[in-house]
Amino acid sequence: MIHLHDIRYVRLGTTDLAAASRYATDVLGLEVAHRSEHAVHFRSDGRDHTLCYFEGDPRDHTAAFEVDSSAELDQALEALAAAGYEVRRGRADEAEQRHVAEFINFRDPSGNSIDLVHAPHHSGRRFFPSRDAGITGFSHIGLRTLDAPRDEGFWTGLMSARVSDRIGVAPLLRIDEVHHKIALFPSAFAGVQHINHQVETIDDVMRAYYILQERGVRILFGPGRHPTSGAVFLYFVGPHDMIYEYSTGVRLISAQEEAGHRPRSFPAIPSSFCMWGSKPDIPEFRN
Ligand SMILES: [Fe+2]
Repeated sequence: MIHLHDIRYVRLGTTDLAAASRYATDVLGLEVAHRSEHAVHFRSDGRDHTLCYFEGDPRDHTAAFEVDSSAELDQALEALAAAGYEVRRGRADEAEQRHVAEFINFRDPSGNSIDLVHAPHHSGRRFFPSRDAGITGFSHIGLRTLDAPRDEGFWTGLMSARVSDRIGVAPLLRIDEVHHKIALFPSAFAGVQHINHQVETIDDVMRAYYILQERGVRILFGPGRHPTSGAVFLYFVGPHDMIYEYSTGVRLISAQEEAGHRPRSFPAIPSSFCMWGSKPDIPEFRN
């Protein structure tokens, strides 16, 4: 069992690094951590960075998860290789670019590129947002799956994720006490389906709803509340049609609740995604 400690960052290719960077700061409200010729890293919390846009194919997405030790990274490499996955150790220069001590990379059964990292850098400076979006940190991703039950088996069998709830066949997976850090949504192709940042309060969600509309950013879903995690949410469109989400108030499943928790099954209908009645303009949420 490969123990995932936390979700760490997302890396996204872009054909227009300047425009993607402008979006990440001016619209999303992230802070530039590092800017180089071919990539920009962004902060959303106390960590070195949690998002990277690099010059490349906009379909090229990688999500990273943290493991606790160098030994666990070695064990993960062996376990993945033994299970038949093509896994490679990151080069020193690549680890440096990612601001981690070391990492391995592989593809999940649907073909999603995943980094497992050890000793990612924390920042000595506090997060200083580019705009007052109320962001408290990068929290979860939606990941596309070509076969949800199969991939649920991968993430909960070989990896340490647990199912918190399901909407249709789509599992919402936790790796710590937060209701979900990964959600697997059926799709025709692999990749990151959405990227979530937590914001402080419902006021930040509602402020974003008006500010983003004033700036001409297309709202895709919400404001609403997920009946699964209890989070109040807003989904909107980003560069190359990536979907970004702000949410607040996500349910925690504490260590005491862990043993007794049973995943609930919600049908694949709009009210399973929003208890207030908002309808998603997001194909993967319409199953
Ligand atoms: Fe989400």
